[in-house]
Amino acid sequence: VSKVLTVSVDLGERSYDVLIGHDALASARNRLTDLFPRKRAIIITDSHIAPLHLDHLETELNGLGIKPEPFILDPGEKTKSFSQLESLIDVLLDHNVERSECIIAFGGGVIGDLVGFASAITKRGTGFIQIPTTLLSQVDSSVGGKTGINTRQGKNFVGAFHQPKLVIADSRFLDSLPIREQRAGYAEIVKAALIGDKAMFEQLETAGTSALTGDTLSQAIASSVAFKAKIVAQDEREGGVRALLNLGHTFGHAFEAEAPKDAIRHGEAVAAGIGLAFRYSVHLGKCPVQDALRVEQHLRDIGLPDGPKSLAFNTWNAERLVERMRGDKKNSGGNIMLVLVNGIGNAYLDTTTDENNLVNFMETTL
Ligand SMILES: NC(=O)c1ccc[n+]([C@@H]2O[C@H](COP(=O)([O-])OP(=O)(O)OC[C@H]3O[C@@H](n4cnc5c(N)ncnc54)[C@H](O)[C@@H]3O)[C@@H](O)[C@H]2O)c1
Ligand SMILES: [Zn+2]
Repeated sequence: VSKVLTVSVDLGERSYDVLIGHDALASARNRLTDLFPRKRAIIITDSHIAPLHLDHLETELNGLGIKPEPFILDPGEKTKSFSQLESLIDVLLDHNVERSECIIAFGGGVIGDLVGFASAITKRGTGFIQIPTTLLSQVDSSVGGKTGINTRQGKNFVGAFHQPKLVIADSRFLDSLPIREQRAGYAEIVKAALIGDKAMFEQLETAGTSALTGDTLSQAIASSVAFKAKIVAQDEREGGVRALLNLGHTFGHAFEAEAPKDAIRHGEAVAAGIGLAFRYSVHLGKCPVQDALRVEQHLRDIGLPDGPKSLAFNTWNAERLVERMRGDKKNSGGNIMLVLVNGIGNAYLDTTTDENNLVNFMETTL
């Protein structure tokens, strides 16, 4: 068993650990026995992951005397829907799921969000564990307890806070991940550094593309999970500081909403949004231009978009984007809330957005 890093999410009686590294699953053996008192594990995954990695997980569970019962859903964002939620809950209830047992979300953010939400509301809450298989889900969506589905009005508009009992971020699962997904997940790592950890950004900057592989990647995963865990522990339900984790996201969600379906990945939209948040902060006189240039350079080094122009879809309309931003669920009092920066590693919340100024600025950058 190679080295496994443990990060704790400190939430009183809802505290849990995130195990990170190449043998994270094997290192969890003694904990799994306790989490599955009925000696069976309902596993929810998708049809991309199942042929690649389900055997490995089933073998581990069988070795512990836990009987795996897998259910394989369609891959993709459309699986985070009311109809899929209903079928999933049907499966859980047909299997007479009990509150005392855990369900396994084995997949990317789509599976994690859907299964977490089903677990939150079935019998008013069962246990669940996250075994994230994408870089994005390992560094971001599996930690922090946000669960939910999409509605026709928007992404993640229905959901609940429901913390997992354990997160197993085993990097062996990432070996099969397409490079585009790998880069998209990396955007959330660099986001964490840019919000509040300048030294981490400088390490990533120095590592360049090697930040996407091997030990450098495991270390970067652990650093960004630790960063997120600290913020979630301070503000579990996003009443304040947790909103900083949305750096790049208000812009990013607008790009995602305006682009044709499946044209851009969430992480790509976030990367472009981060570039834009730095540029807008420079425009407002809050951030040195050198910092924006460094961030853009690093995003390009990784192969990520550094702004809206370098996204795969880039025919934008400033007014429509700002209209989308107005509909963001993080806003309050009708004002657009933006995460802006005083520099690298120094983000802050701005609720004073002047929409005309924003539209004018966007027109010059699109
Ligand atoms: N809950 C949160 O806090 C939070 C945070 C960020 C994002 N999200 C949500 O996460 C979702 C995006 O997550 P994602 O990027 O992981 O998407 P995803 O779950 O759709 O996975 C991306 C693609 O990779 C495939 N895949 C997964 N693991 C693989 C592997 N090991 N090898 C090969 N292919 C694999 C999937 O089948 C899918 O096609 C969005 O719905 C977003 O809203 C939630
Ligand atoms: Zn994100």
